[in-house]
Amino acid sequence: VNHLLGIKYLNKKDIQLIFETADHFKEVINRPIKKVPSLRDITIANLFFENSTRTKLSFELAEKRLSADVINFSSAQSSVKKGETLIDTVNNILSMKVDMVVMRHPNPGAGVFLSKHVKASIINAGDGAHEHPTQALLDSYSIREKLGEVGGKKVVIVGDILHSRVALSNIFALQLQGAEVMVCGPKTLLPKYINKLGVKVETNLIKALNWCDVANMLRVQNERMDISYFPSTREYTQQFGVNKELLDSLNKEITIMHPGPINRGVEITSDVADSKQAIILDQVQNGVAIRMAAIYLLASKIKQ
Ligand code: CP
Repeated sequence: VNHLLGIKYLNKKDIQLIFETADHFKEVINRPIKKVPSLRDITIANLFFENSTRTKLSFELAEKRLSADVINFSSAQSSVKKGETLIDTVNNILSMKVDMVVMRHPNPGAGVFLSKHVKASIINAGDGAHEHPTQALLDSYSIREKLGEVGGKKVVIVGDILHSRVALSNIFALQLQGAEVMVCGPKTLLPKYINKLGVKVETNLIKALNWCDVANMLRVQNERMDISYFPSTREYTQQFGVNKELLDSLNKEITIMHPGPINRGVEITSDVADSKQAIILDQVQNGVAIRMAAIYLLASKIKQ
């Protein structure tokens, strides 16, 4: 398959190969000269139809570290605003001899749809509330780096599971690697199909934190929901926010993750986000090596 559309299309061996390749690139980007010439013959278009800081810059940097030619497209400044369709937009860009497309889009399934209509490798950089495969890969890679392995670890994903592509991709990735997964959040922010995903479900944050080795804290995605989903931000923070006092009351030290962007003081306080228990900036750093690995492996298939 010449695409990375979701973790649900991968197997355990695919993830191991991506991690081993990322190990190599992590070593490369720590050298004084952080580049390799591997993809001098590849051109990549980064198409962002939704806002991004980490994913957009991380993909661009990964592509540049691999010596690919890179073009960036942001829908807000494009002819999409004049009514041009997604397929027309992408086919016009591809006619400029582009080999690979990295796309973030607000609609679930946008990457799969595009892969059926255009001739290029597609990497999903987040499609609505569906999947965010490179985020889940960098999350698992960061757990592996911190705790030695992912298999056998207990990971709780806390917060707005309903609207989270990070949650779904993480559930798939963690389960493939043999981790135990729990989701914890208000009932109104859990999807109806949650019991079909093979995860534990908990609505009591203290019980969830006492169970886990790792807590992945999610942002409440107000932009994707009706305000009536949960009574108030203050109540959310009281019941599902993590603070230092709460962590200190546990009988063990757990690892804290967050995909970003953080709403400081809502799902996580600054003293936790900036503590040694948190690996939030390690996740961001690992994102470059993981994206280099994903792009390199896909480009190898294009070249075959
Ligand atoms: N984690 C993540 O996807 O962040 P951005 O929305 O800033 O890319």
